[in-house]
Amino acid sequence: MRYQGGKSRIAAHIAPFIIAEGGACFVSLFCGSCAVENLVAPHFKRVILNDKHEYLIALLKGLQAGYALPDEITEAQYKHIRENKTADPVLTGFVGFGCSFGGRFFEGYARSADRTNYAAQSKASLLKGTANLGNAEIICGDYRAAPIPPRTVIYADPPYCNTKGYGCEKFDTAAFWVAMRLLADTGHKVFISEQTAPPDFTCVWEKPFTRTLDRNKQNQFSVTEKLFTYHSKLEVL
Ligand SMILES: C[S@@+](CC[C@H](N)C(=O)[O-])C[C@H]1O[C@@H](n2cnc3c(N)ncnc32)[C@H](O)[C@@H]1O
Repeated sequence: MRYQGGKSRIAAHIAPFIIAEGGACFVSLFCGSCAVENLVAPHFKRVILNDKHEYLIALLKGLQAGYALPDEITEAQYKHIRENKTADPVLTGFVGFGCSFGGRFFEGYARSADRTNYAAQSKASLLKGTANLGNAEIICGDYRAAPIPPRTVIYADPPYCNTKGYGCEKFDTAAFWVAMRLLADTGHKVFISEQTAPPDFTCVWEKPFTRTLDRNKQNQFSVTEKLFTYHSKLEVL
């Protein structure tokens, strides 16, 4: 499923760093559509997936419970579900992301000249892309409230600094880096997807990509995806 800021294109590059770290527990603080998480999950005994978006979390939990997603969503159904979000939160999550342009929550019914069936496409990619998450603990909340067992391997893919956010609130990037240092200083291993980081973070992987902002693919720009880690200066026992 297309998801704003989703990592499906680069998940195969990122996952090996997390898997190589090993350990009993893996926590994703901003799981989104779980592109990286689905590759990583089989390598950890315990997997905790956190995200603040309530309808995304409803969708992930619904998939775990075997919810039957529809194969088609008309524009009229799309509008109805958008106006009645709480009636069926799993369906709202699916339609809001999976049937919207660019995977941006209810930002417009996805359509194309070749009449692509976005619902069918999203359903297939979601079923495949979450197949390994059957035993994951799925939590809805702010990343700072997520439970972190001792010596966890943590993946953080936050809303990028200076990009379109996920709601009305602006993401506090400075506070985020403080939180990541604290996690590393208290015995966890952190991996962070971002385009830039403060100088005390180490970039372990990078690759340039092209991104598109509009339907006509006119507003294209280049970004370099990076993966950072933090080497604690403290001696962790
Ligand atoms: C870049 S996306 C993650 C994309 C994901 N890695 C994927 O492959 O689909 C960022 C995510 O952070 C979530 N988010 C934004 N603010 C948050 C917060 N304060 N705490 C937890 N999650 C948050 C958004 O709902 C969104 O799913």
